[in-house]
Amino acid sequence: MKGIVLAGGHGTRLVPLTQVVCKQLLPVYDKPMICYPLSILMLGGIRQICIISTPRDLPIIRGFLGDGGSLGVEFTYVEQPRPEGIAQAFLLAEEFIGGDPVTLILGDNVFYGDFFQGEDGFARAVRDFERGGLIFGYYLGDPRDFGVLEFDAAGLAVGIEEKPLEPKSNYAVPGLYAYDAGVVEVVRGLQPSARGELEITDVNRTYLERGDLRVDRLGRGIAWLDTGTPGSLQAASSFVEAIEMRQGLKIACLEEIAFDQGFVDRAGFEALIAGFPSPPSECDYREYLEMVLAQKDAAPGGQRSALTQDRAAASSPRSRL
Ligand code: G1P
Repeated sequence: MKGIVLAGGHGTRLVPLTQVVCKQLLPVYDKPMICYPLSILMLGGIRQICIISTPRDLPIIRGFLGDGGSLGVEFTYVEQPRPEGIAQAFLLAEEFIGGDPVTLILGDNVFYGDFFQGEDGFARAVRDFERGGLIFGYYLGDPRDFGVLEFDAAGLAVGIEEKPLEPKSNYAVPGLYAYDAGVVEVVRGLQPSARGELEITDVNRTYLERGDLRVDRLGRGIAWLDTGTPGSLQAASSFVEAIEMRQGLKIACLEEIAFDQGFVDRAGFEALIAGFPSPPSECDYREYLEMVLAQKDAAPGGQRSALTQDRAAASSPRSRL
């Protein structure tokens, strides 16, 4: 399975922030937004990742993330000259996709929850993926701003509409999708919608009409946040802050995930740490990575140890007051 992060678009609802840099590089609490979708792909065990963005922003993203080698992954960069819809990603990434199945995640979607940790949730869905399309259903009180799904008891999609005024269910479609390699042909067969875009909902409808669109319901223990407006961006930051402060553990720390997933070994992780400012410069992020390393040593099985908790508490801002 390969992965795509789509980090394009105008970000018009975030102007003037997005006059400086694309939405996906804006901060969500303590790291650039793009780290969150990237972390989800990496937690799914996906190591070949294509990042699509605008001609203005792609060099900045590349400058930040590099070729991925130090994280044990491989980043490929593709320009999106004009934003012409989410589904355009598959045409732009055709060469990258080759004949492989591919997971697409939107660069402004933040997911959090146990489903994305360990072997049994998302990682298994990726591993077991064979053919057709796989999307997720997430309950929202008001899903009208999103794709809205209907599905049967067996988890097969039976209806999908984009931003319906009168939704037929409360299940929105988050920006996380997996398809077989046939998705490129599916997109080639699409016409742009009324808003002039190649719609991901039309891709899904094509798979649905073939009886080939499965739905995994994301339970209410999972957070799915979007970040398209100043308010929702702020809310996502506050959410991440609350969890990170409470647990003393970071969400979407790519270096930690690479180490946990075995994408890099101990020496590789130490090299990553060495890339951050060292004392006497203050760098909480480096301190955090050092804590992760110490914890691995204390509990090679990966259990969060008492030592870890002490260190996490010691490095939390509250304890410094
Ligand atoms: C897009 C999709 C929509 C999906 C949403 C998830 O909406 O068209 O189906 O539910 O992403 O974030 P857009 O961001 O284009 O409004």
